Amino acid sequence: MIEEQKKVNEKIQEEQIIKAAEIIKSGGVVAFPTETVYGLGANAFDEKAVEKVFELKGRPQDNPLIVHICSKDDLDIVASDISDKAYKLIEKFWPGPLTLVLPRNPSVPDVVSAGLPTVAVRMPSHPIALKLIQYAELPIAAPSANPSGKPSATKPEHVKSYFQNKVFIIEGQTEIGIESTVLDMTSDPILLLRPGGLEIEKIEEVLKEKIVKKIENSQKPKSPGIKYTHYKPQIYLIVLKDREKISKLKNFLKPESKILYVMAYTFDESFQSKLKKGIYNIDFIFAGADEREIAKNLFDILIAKSIGYDTMIFEAVDERGIGLGIMNRLKKAADIVIS
Ligand code: TXA
Ligand code: MG
Repeated sequence: MIEEQKKVNEKIQEEQIIKAAEIIKSGGVVAFPTETVYGLGANAFDEKAVEKVFELKGRPQDNPLIVHICSKDDLDIVASDISDKAYKLIEKFWPGPLTLVLPRNPSVPDVVSAGLPTVAVRMPSHPIALKLIQYAELPIAAPSANPSGKPSATKPEHVKSYFQNKVFIIEGQTEIGIESTVLDMTSDPILLLRPGGLEIEKIEEVLKEKIVKKIENSQKPKSPGIKYTHYKPQIYLIVLKDREKISKLKNFLKPESKILYVMAYTFDESFQSKLKKGIYNIDFIFAGADEREIAKNLFDILIAKSIGYDTMIFEAVDERGIGLGIMNRLKKAADIVIS
């Protein structure tokens, strides 16, 4: 019976991918799972189709998209003059959560890379994403599947809540929970434009060099995405670096606040009862025991678990490995960070 159900599900999924590939081929937009987050994809070579993605997201025209390919052999269709270092990373980390900014092949329309001479490229490892690109026989330009400024979608329900019936959704699961790591391979030294699913420590080990972190808030950001507000949940978000500093929060909480407290690493019940004895109307959830687990739950907590509350207190994580990517998202999403 279970075996039979599995076959039915596989058939439904195959049909969804075929339908989505047809939509892409005919200039439409679809939402599909990748190993990082859900993407909102269109034919990367079709200017009009890519414009629809910008429109749906309400995305500023100067924020470029990532082009997704299904085979390393397709890299030359979208990029050119690829450096040895880039090939080294591709060899080691593709398919996977690593996006490389490379010199753009002129065949990629301006709108995809917002007129920049570069293009961001990634080969995802998710079987549904790979199949979709394969069946469409086209590279797919895809940002994360959220309205501009909102937390990224990691579940089909999130995409539905954001776009209702405006896009066809392939049902599936994401794995990592935060977006890919983005590296600018056209600068020397190589720049980290966005920490993400692939740990920077692993990249440095392969290249045997230090990756320079892009300093944010600079006048002319190298990655346009850097300058926009991001990941904003519906509620007032406080990021707390140290559980013991909870008393510092008093000034930020109102007696009538309905608070969700998100614990990281340990679900400490004596701490919970201490807080519950206070004046606060407070519930607790557990984000995860390590950074991998916390990354996986992060956007679901910001989008779905926050419903019914007006304030969220999220405990900070260590800024190492994937924790660097988690804290990058949390700091952008936060109204205040307390340390
Ligand atoms: O994991 C991911 O990367 C997901 C999945 C769907 O693949 N996609 C994603 O796309 O996160 P998006 O559009 O939400 O973020 C892409 C980031 C933005 O910050 C954008 O500014 C930057 O990559 N980017 C894209 N093209 C660029 C370029 N040519 N130069 C510099 N930055 C670029
Ligand atoms: Mg995004």
